[in-house]
Order: sequence, then C-alpha cells, then structure tokens
Amino acid sequence: MIGRRARGIFRAVNQNGGNGAGAKPPADDLILSVEQLTISFDGFTVLNELDFSMKYGEMRFLIGPNGAGKTTLIDAITGKSKPDRGRIVFDGGADLTRQQEHELVKLGIGRKFQTPSIFGSLTVYQNLEVALGFRSRITGLLGGTRRRDSDRIMATLEEVGLAARVGDPAGSLSHGEKQWLEIGMLLVQEPKLLLMDEPVAGMTRRERERTGELLQSIGSARSVLVVEHDMEFVRRFAETVTVLHLGRVLSEGTMETVQQDPEVVRAYLGHGASGQRTVAENTRPRAVETVGA
Ligand SMILES: Nc1ncnc2c1ncn2[C@@H]1O[C@H](COP(=O)(O)OP(=O)(O)OP(=O)(O)O)[C@@H](O)[C@H]1O
Ligand SMILES: [Mg+2]
Repeated sequence: MIGRRARGIFRAVNQNGGNGAGAKPPADDLILSVEQLTISFDGFTVLNELDFSMKYGEMRFLIGPNGAGKTTLIDAITGKSKPDRGRIVFDGGADLTRQQEHELVKLGIGRKFQTPSIFGSLTVYQNLEVALGFRSRITGLLGGTRRRDSDRIMATLEEVGLAARVGDPAGSLSHGEKQWLEIGMLLVQEPKLLLMDEPVAGMTRRERERTGELLQSIGSARSVLVVEHDMEFVRRFAETVTVLHLGRVLSEGTMETVQQDPEVVRAYLGHGASGQRTVAENTRPRAVETVGA
C-alpha cells in the first residue's frame, strides 16, 4: 500500500553521490534556463515564448494574477506538461522538455504540491524513512547504513522544526506541520532545485512566519522556486520576484520594484476588476490531503 502510493507522490530525488559519476561542472551559473517556452491547451496559449532563468543557490518568488501560467511553468519543469516549442536546460545539461516525468526525479528536482501528501498513520520519522527509501529505489542505489539514514532523517527534522514530533503520527500534525513534513520528505532526498506552489496557503500567521524562515534556511544551500499569492509573505521573504502575466515575464526585481511597475499594477487591476485577486490580496486557504490517515 505504502509502496504503491509512494510511487505516485514523491517527486524528488537527487543524484548527489547517486550516479557515481561525480559532479559535472555547470556550463554557466544557471541551474535553470527556460528558453522560448510555449505551451498551449486547446489552442489557448498559456506560456508564450517564455524566457526565465535562475542561478545556483537562488531563492526566487514567482507571482502573477490567476491563470498567468505559474503552475503550468512548474508542470513544464517537472515534465508534467509538454511544450509546443522551447527548451528548459537544467543544471547545465539535460533539456527537461525531452525527459519523462519519472526520469526527471533522478536529476534532482523536488516538487511540493499545494496540498501535502503524507502518510497520516505513520509517524513523522517513518514518513521520512519512506521518502528516503523511495530515493534509494529510484536511483537504483542501495540505501546508506541505518545509522547514516537515521542521522539524515533527524537532521532534516531539526531543519523543518519537527524533531520534537518525531514519534507522533503524521495525521496528528497541524496543517502547517504537515506542510513542513512534506518539505522534509523532499529535503531528505536532497534535491538541487525545489519547486513549491503556494506553500503557505491556509497557514496561520505564525506558521507562515516559520515557513518563511524555513525557506530561507533551505535556500541557503539549494535553489528554490516559490509560487506565492500571499503578498505580505512575499514582501517579507523575497529578494527577487518574477511577475508572470499571460504566459510571459512582465517584470522582475525586488518586490518594491515590481510593485511600482505600471505594467504590473495594470495586470493585477485588470484581474481585480474581473473578480480575481489583486497584488495586495492574501492567499486563499486550501484543504489538506492526508494519505493513509
Ligand atoms: N491541463 C490544462 N488544460 C487546459 N487548460 C489548462 C490546463 N492547465 C492550465 N490550463 C489553463 O492555463 C491557464 C494558466 O493556468 P495555471 O494553472 O498555470 O495558472 P496559475 O498562474 O498557476 O494560476 P493560479 O494563480 O490561479 O494558480 C489557465 O487559464 C488555465 O485554465
Ligand atoms: Mg497555480
């Protein structure tokens, strides 16, 4: 049961020490380079010759009105949506548009979905064990020693702030804690690039604050792309923000800069007028899905 579900929900694996080939030097300082990416659904262009890039070690926030194409971009990076044109170069090598979704996980891309998928009846520790076991299976590696796995799990629980809950059933965690657990399940697999779609949706103010600090901690050693609607959160924690609108980059820079960009104001006002969210609005709460609770 767990194995079957695990195949579907864990998206991250890394190749650090995994392929035995050693780290290949990147061609430039970009971990991700999206070039002229075009994706259409039923003749409707969702991503329109999109150019977007991120440097190694960068934490980038991606904002934009509803329907701008943010989730579609993440789908494209993770191989879920196939483009009509363009390419996505990851880690100086692979063109992600030519990879299958299941092949991409080996490259070191971790994706956190909007609703956490965890095993509610297993303990917090066991959830991370399952994530680690999945990593070993997909990379074809034997796992490390139990001692080493245990050390890594405990270090990850410290990082996501759940060390004190190690033996508790995951189903008993709060909404925010479940989100942190899922982030931990990705981290234990050591992704090079972490993609998160609205990670603080539905969290309390305190949980949002702790998540922002966690993202900063994660981003100090990895590349992180965060899609977020909560503008207060973005203002507080983002260094560089990219505004997507109608499938293209409308503006990029600090939050202060992009908020003053007349094009950005116009894009959000246009959506506000049709009853959608504006640049000043907060996020909407979402339900939590607990697998195996
Ligand atoms: N599989 C699909 N089939 C058809 N249309 C789709 C599909 N996925 C997305 N779309 C459409 O593409 C557009 C962009 O959707 P996307 O989910 O990427 O937007 P978003 O920026 O993530 O929006 P939100 O802020 O509401 O999450 C929307 O008009 C959406 O309806
Ligand atoms: Mg979306």
